[in-house]
Amino acid sequence: MSINDKLIIFDTTLRDGEQSPGASMTRDEKVRISRALERMRVDVIEAGFPIASPGDFEAVQAVARAVRESTVCGLARTLDGDIDRAGEALKPAASARIHTFIATSPVHMKKKLRMEPEQVLEQAVHAVKRAGRYTDDIEFSPEDAGRSEFDFLCRVIEAVIDAGATTVNLPATVGYNLPHQFGELIRRLIEHVPNSDKAIFSVHCHNDLGLAVGNSLSAVLNGARQVECTINGLGERAGNAALEEIIMTVQTRQDIFPCQTGLDATQIMTCSRLVSGITGFAVQPNKAIVGANAFAHESGIHQDGVLKSRETYEIMRAQDVGWTANRIVLGKHSGRNAFRSRLKELGIEYGSEEDLNDAFSRFKELADKKHEIFDEDIQALVTESGLESKDDWLKLVSLKVCSETGETPHASIMLWMDGTEKQAECSGSGPVDAAFRAIEELVNSGTELQLYSVNNITSGTDSQGEVTVRLQKGGRIVNGHGADTDIVIASAKSYINAINKIIKPESRAHPQMGDV
Ligand code: KIV
Ligand code: ZN
Repeated sequence: MSINDKLIIFDTTLRDGEQSPGASMTRDEKVRISRALERMRVDVIEAGFPIASPGDFEAVQAVARAVRESTVCGLARTLDGDIDRAGEALKPAASARIHTFIATSPVHMKKKLRMEPEQVLEQAVHAVKRAGRYTDDIEFSPEDAGRSEFDFLCRVIEAVIDAGATTVNLPATVGYNLPHQFGELIRRLIEHVPNSDKAIFSVHCHNDLGLAVGNSLSAVLNGARQVECTINGLGERAGNAALEEIIMTVQTRQDIFPCQTGLDATQIMTCSRLVSGITGFAVQPNKAIVGANAFAHESGIHQDGVLKSRETYEIMRAQDVGWTANRIVLGKHSGRNAFRSRLKELGIEYGSEEDLNDAFSRFKELADKKHEIFDEDIQALVTESGLESKDDWLKLVSLKVCSETGETPHASIMLWMDGTEKQAECSGSGPVDAAFRAIEELVNSGTELQLYSVNNITSGTDSQGEVTVRLQKGGRIVNGHGADTDIVIASAKSYINAINKIIKPESRAHPQMGDV
């Protein structure tokens, strides 16, 4: 594919997606998501904002080590410290990109940065040159481009391209633009900036008015050849453009789009489930492509049409984006080899035999409780085995809960805490409340519960329940997860998972806040 017909997909789930309140991810979670994105053949993975905290730095570094096929990118403001930190974190990458940005709209320059336009221009050029010490692959974003003055934007873009920027990314930071205007902005910039042929033009659209995908696609029709997007549209406020919608629109409407992505769309559902499982952000049932109802034909007229000819109501096939019907894939008698080969078919890799053995013994335990094991169960089980870490100071040993009509529910719990077993009992308004209180009796975490949600992984009353718990302490928010056929046990596991995360406090900076 030439530069004109290749549409570069830049995924920012791990950076802008993570900026959604409550969506923070651990280093290991980021590595797991980045591997899934790599399998989908995403071109660029923005792994984080290395200056934000030691944890962010380590996560970008870990993704840079783990990913070989996609370019790994780190975000940096136009400050020397930010750029050096990003360059350092990206050292292990097979292909590294530094993404530096500064706001160019009048309101941002005056009110947020308190800088004159000429200072902004100078700093942008300086940052791009400094990034050149670490890599030739440099992206520059004039933040809030959608509300910036056209002539100033042209001057900044020309100057950063001269300084070495190879990608110029135009963000619709606050989602204010309309598709026809935003497309026209891209077309005019490409026409007016004298050296525009020396860089790829990219777009990064937020969804405040529900227009992120529309704005991005309009930009593509007007010459943009990179789109920044996130899985499930995760992101700040109303989110970013949804990757799955961009890919499938371009693929489905090849009669309109003069370009193609090289992505493997069949990996979409795996990525979607992984991101929603890790962040605890459930996907709405009617969400395009990845929502549970996206391919369900309920009404008689639709069903009749689809049975006669699929094209009557279906413009895409569910299996093309990785939806598989609930299929019984394994059972109690399946052996290690069958388990390993199903994992392989699902694109799940285990780094070591020890991890594979651990997942296999979890599978055997599950198969004893639940006779039919579906792909979704295997995915949840893999997520589960990634949840526990050797560094966890808190583990569930056993839990007994009594719940009876007319009686107060009561829980008795045994926890492994920093090497010793401790026991507590508590009553509560329900069995989950009693279990959480019993945990708190022992750990006294001082956290506030912000979210408790249970989803069934497959249908049927023997399905595993997948629980997400969100805890907050001192401004820090973490998500915990747990899955089990017993939802009270799944709840306790997810609470313990969250506690294990929150006792490693870390203060993170937000990239678009602080002064420059
Ligand atoms: O929305 C935005 O402007 C951003 C920039 C950092 C690219 O996320
Ligand atoms: Zn953004």
